[in-house]
Amino acid sequence: MKRILSGITPSGDGTLHIGNYLGAVKQFIEMARTNECFLFVADLHALTTIQNKGQLQKNVESLILNELALLKGFLTPEEFERLVFYRQSDIAGIHPELQTILNNVTPFGLLKRAHAYKDKLAKETAEDDINMGLFSYPILMAADILLYKPDLVPVGKDQKQHVEIARDVAERFNRIYNKKIFKLPDPYIPETVATIPGTDGKRKMSKSLGNIISIFETEEIIKKQVISTYTDPARLHATDPGHIEGNMVFTYLDFFGEKDKVDQMKQSYIKGQIADIEVKEYLYQSLIKFFQPAREKYEELKNNPELVKEILGRGAEKAKHVAGQTMKEVKETVGLVNAYSFGPTKKSMITIDDFSSVEIRVGKVEQVEHVEKSEKLIRLHVDFGNFGKRIIFTGVRTYGYTADDFTGKQFLFIVNLEYRKMMGEESQGMILAVDSADRKPLFISGVDLPIGSSIR
Ligand code: TRP
Repeated sequence: MKRILSGITPSGDGTLHIGNYLGAVKQFIEMARTNECFLFVADLHALTTIQNKGQLQKNVESLILNELALLKGFLTPEEFERLVFYRQSDIAGIHPELQTILNNVTPFGLLKRAHAYKDKLAKETAEDDINMGLFSYPILMAADILLYKPDLVPVGKDQKQHVEIARDVAERFNRIYNKKIFKLPDPYIPETVATIPGTDGKRKMSKSLGNIISIFETEEIIKKQVISTYTDPARLHATDPGHIEGNMVFTYLDFFGEKDKVDQMKQSYIKGQIADIEVKEYLYQSLIKFFQPAREKYEELKNNPELVKEILGRGAEKAKHVAGQTMKEVKETVGLVNAYSFGPTKKSMITIDDFSSVEIRVGKVEQVEHVEKSEKLIRLHVDFGNFGKRIIFTGVRTYGYTADDFTGKQFLFIVNLEYRKMMGEESQGMILAVDSADRKPLFISGVDLPIGSSIR
């Protein structure tokens, strides 16, 4: 399993058409079936061009709905579960923080050679009309990538140079600090299903050109888009022999129709035995059928913002975990951690919500063993009544505790910690203790409290 990471900028209006699906989403979905994938909405990047609050909000909302509907529509629930989908700006400051650090190992000249900046300058734009966000776009993108140490970064051709800049920046950082912190990323340009031409048969499919076929619009709109698709201009009557080459209806049918039926239709078309409208009707039916699962997911998500938030929340948690770990290494490496630093996760204050998410319960220790190969560990079999039973380890033999100190007694335990491996075994919680004068832990007794009940 490889780690794959990609980002999507909500630069258009956030809605996806079949050109987007064939050009990028489809390949990503295939990769997500068998790899560990990170996919995020690059909303911070969008600020370089979208400086209108309402528009940004709308674009990001549509993009999230469109992407999630396609992912959920085509992936199995297990595959979808494994995918980490998040918003760049939800990764609480980590991406911009790394960008700030990377600024200092990135040569000015390298960015001046970046296409996005160069192209903009070439379009008769004065330097004063280019914002720093656009100029340093590749550094934020480098941060997006390097934080997750991916093996591959699938992007379109236009983004290849940005991934190469990220690689360059990573190399410089590793060299300057003489430490292999960042994995050098590889751009991966999926063998493109060529660029998908629009319904005009001439230019790339693009919303602004009005030559798209939508995925999530109403059936009427999709039907209209199909009907207006370019076929064979030389063919005036259904009985005239027709051409398949450059005929957009057949180009799309090759992706969305059933092969046998499409082949049959092509034969009839060439011989002048079938009308345009019949072929278009088949394309329309095929599209609706093909995208049916995604269209259903779209409605489901659209009507349930809480569900979307939950998906984004889970994605952000997982992403923060990985990005936070890398950021910690980076801060240590550059010297931002010193004698006066707080621990990376210690906060001086937590909210009531933070506190209420900690689950502490009364458990009765039923059975106890000293873990063999270990000098410290004691294995507790704890009964939490209706809440079930858990195996919980505590490393306290070095303080003189033995099994007898626990057997048959009640204590307080945290029961919603992520399970943690100790000497190859999983600890499913943690016993609570307070410090004595010599730092020996004193366990908090739960005597006389109802087994399984939680602290509130
Ligand atoms: N710049 C990319 C685009 O416009 C989006 C993006 C931002 C991205 N950060 C990324 C892609 C990191 C891959 C990896 O398409």
